[in-house]
Order: sequence, then C-alpha cells, then structure tokens
Amino acid sequence: MKIKWLILAAGEGKRMKSSLPKVFHKVGGTPILLRILQISESLNIETGVVLGKNFEYGEKALKGVKTKIFKQSARLGTAHAVMIAKEFYTIPDDYTLISPGDTPLLTEKDIKRFIDFSLERNADTSILTFRTSNPEGYGRVFENNGAFAKIVEEKDAGEEEKKNNLVNSGIYLFKNMVLLKHLNEVNNNNAQKEYYLTDLPSILKKHGYTIAVFKAGNEENFFGVNDRIQLSLCDNIAIKRNIEKAMENGVTIYQPHTVRIEDNVEIGSDTIIHPHVVIERNCIIGKGNIIKTGAIISNSEIGDNCVIHEYSHIDGAKILSNCKIGPFARLRPQTVIHDQAKVGNFVETKKATLHRGVKASHLTYLGDCEIGENTNIGAGTITCNYDGEKKHRTEIGANCFIGSDTQLVAPVKIGDFSYIGAGSTITQDVPECSLALSRVKQKIIAGWPEKKGKKCSK
Ligand code: UD1
Ligand code: MG
Repeated sequence: MKIKWLILAAGEGKRMKSSLPKVFHKVGGTPILLRILQISESLNIETGVVLGKNFEYGEKALKGVKTKIFKQSARLGTAHAVMIAKEFYTIPDDYTLISPGDTPLLTEKDIKRFIDFSLERNADTSILTFRTSNPEGYGRVFENNGAFAKIVEEKDAGEEEKKNNLVNSGIYLFKNMVLLKHLNEVNNNNAQKEYYLTDLPSILKKHGYTIAVFKAGNEENFFGVNDRIQLSLCDNIAIKRNIEKAMENGVTIYQPHTVRIEDNVEIGSDTIIHPHVVIERNCIIGKGNIIKTGAIISNSEIGDNCVIHEYSHIDGAKILSNCKIGPFARLRPQTVIHDQAKVGNFVETKKATLHRGVKASHLTYLGDCEIGENTNIGAGTITCNYDGEKKHRTEIGANCFIGSDTQLVAPVKIGDFSYIGAGSTITQDVPECSLALSRVKQKIIAGWPEKKGKKCSK
C-alpha cells in the first residue's frame, strides 16, 4: 500500500488581486507551495501539484523540485482539479492525500498524525478538521452522533450552519478506489457553480463507505491564505515560530516583535539581535555575534564573534569570525571577509575577498578585487573595475597601505608591503615594497588673492 500526495494549487486566487499565482506568494520568505513540498519531501511522500493560473510561471518556479505537475486549464472547482490529475491515483488499494496549496503553516507532525489516524481506522476517506474561533470562509463540517454527516461551504451555508466552528482544513486521505469510482458523481449545483471536493464525502457516505473525522488541535497550522490579510497573518506566525526557535537555541532577541527572521536560518547561541533586524532566507550565523539595529542580512554566512553595526546590508556574503562590519556597510554578493577584518561605514564591496585583518574603515568601493592580509585601505579608495564594457580585477597584496582617495584603475596589481600616496590614480602595477604616487605636485602662489583684488585680513 502506498500513499501519494496531491496538492491543489490551480485556483484563481481572486481574493489576492495579484498577477502572481496565490501559492507562490511568500510566507516566512518561502513560497507557500514550497513550504508544503518541504514537508512531503521530509516525509518521503511522492507528490503531484495541480497548477492553473499562470501555469508557465508555476512550472518554472517548480523547476528542480521533484513533483508531477498537472494543468487545470479551466478552474471549475476543487473536485474538478482532482479529476484533472486522474493519472495520479490509478491503483485502487493505494491512498491519495489531498491538500490545498494555500496552507503555509502545515507541519510534518500534523500530516503524520492524520495519516496514522486514518490508517488505524482503515477509513475509506478521512477528513482533517479543526475548531476555530473564526470559522468564516471555511467549509463547516457536520457530524451526527459522532459520525460524519456533511460539509457545507461558507457561501452555501445558512445562518445557523455558519455558527458551527468545526471546519474543513481541505486535507483528506482518500482510498483511490473511491476517487476512481465516485468522483464523477460530484456536480456543480451550488452558489459558486463549482465542482466542490467537499461534496464527495457525503456522496461516499450514501454509498456506505467509512468516513473518519480527524480533529486537529492547533488551528493555526491549517490557516488558509485567500487574501493579503490572511497572508500577513500566516507570515506573522511563521516569523514568530522562527524567532522562538532561535531563542530556544540560545539567541537573545531584543524586542522580538520588531525583528524578522525568515525560514532556513540558523543562528548560534549567545548571538544578540537588536531591534529592527531582518534576517532573510538562507543564512547561517554563528555564535556570540552582535547584530545591531537595522541590519539586513540575506543569503549569507557569518562566523562567530562578529559585530554587525547598525543599518548594514549584507547580501550573498561570507564573513568569517571576529570581524566588524558597518555601520552603513553594504556587502554585495560574492564578498568574502576573512577573520578579524573590518569594513566600516559607507563601504561597498562586491566580488571582493578581504583577507585576515584587512581594514577598509570608511567611504570606499571595493569591487572585483582581492586584498591581502593586514592591508589598510584608506578612506575614499575606489577600485575602478568597469571600463564601460567589461569588469576588471584589482589585486592588492598583503601588508599594504593604500592612501585615502586612491583610484585603482583595474586591471591592476599592487605588490606586498607597498604604499600608495593619498590622492593617487593608479593605472600601472606597483611592485612589492615600493611607494607609488601619481598626484600633481603642489604649487604655492603667495599673495594670489590680493592680486585678484580679494581681502586677506578683516
Ligand atoms: C476550500 C474548501 C473548504 C475548506 C478550505 C480550507 C472546497 C470547495 N472548499 O475552500 O471547505 O474549509 O478550502 O482552506 O474545496 N483549487 C484548484 N482548482 C480549482 C479551485 C481551487 O486547484 O478549480 C485549489 C486552490 O488553488 C487552493 C485549493 O484548491 O489551493 C482550495 O481552493 P480555495 O479557492 O482556496 O478554496 P477555499 O475557499 O479556501
Ligand atoms: Mg483557500
């Protein structure tokens, strides 16, 4: 016996008012559908996804994800979406788990418990339900003496029915045989003129099949995203979970309600995060770091014991240990900062490797370059890496001193232990252990203002 998982993700998502398919909107920094697919992957369940609106976008976004894609061209309802995927459930004794694609807070534990519950009861169909303080928008689930009775959609429910707070999560486990034999009995005689999958359990009940109702405890986990308000609600919960996980792992977070930590972020113990810090997806941050207010870090790695000062933007960079970054530093992709280096205020780096102990303390652009150990980069240094057509590299050796306001016109190399005089424009390689100066010699013309008729005293 095998279980496969079919995710219905073709809906119009009209309430989102978006050109992007609903299931690709992000919660915790991850597209909603990918959050669900991560669960199926860790449970090792084969999946299929029904896509519809902006199919091409969806197909592209799922490139590299192991799943089967079905196309529902006309979105005629959730039961119709399941019909479209009929190749997915051909073996009568196997099972198909069906879920909506718009429930981003689902957990592995919920799915595992639901499957175990259904299999223990040997049910032909099981429905995952939960009680909620705000049932609006959900299908209401009715029971009769503890046995399943029917599901009534919000738009078809009367005032009394709407008061029922036991609702349908949209997650079911069907024995394939019931889908194969009875799905075509669902009609579209309802307020939305749609083929509702929610009608199938009642049809099956009439045929005498066993229907089990699973009541899940934590309603949050099944929240669906149908509009932007629900999107932000789910995002808040996802971020809160990430923040709590970091705290449980020994991270101090001041005023956590102002901090955003997205999915797939690891943070080591004794790191301190100040208010208004944003750590986006895919970051690994070590122990004992201090991340100050307003820092934004994405797709980056930081070692141990670094200080990331206020308002620094770090994207696609790798920072080793004991470094000082910012305030107001901008580290762009492919920046590598080795141990004990310092990147100060208003310094921008891109495709730059700064070896151990390098200091670039102020107002500098370092792009397409490599800088050797312990070199000091003066304020206002610029690697002129772009000639209007191509990018070129600058290589600066170890233990160099680059005077302030130097322009290094790439491609250019500076040897170890060399000095560049402040205000130089360097267009040729500088050998090691030398001084390069390219500025114009200073002239003094005494009394010049007076000759021009200007005053030199009060
Ligand atoms: C659905 C359920 C409702 C349940 C709720 C849980 C139905 C009729 N109603 O309502 O009982 O409480 O989910 O969140 O099933 N989809 C398709 N093709 C379609 C229509 C929808 O693939 O033709 C997909 C959507 O992309 C979505 C899912 O099915 O991921 C559910 O559709 P949605 O429109 O969100 O239904 P709800 O109104 O939320
Ligand atoms: Mg929905």
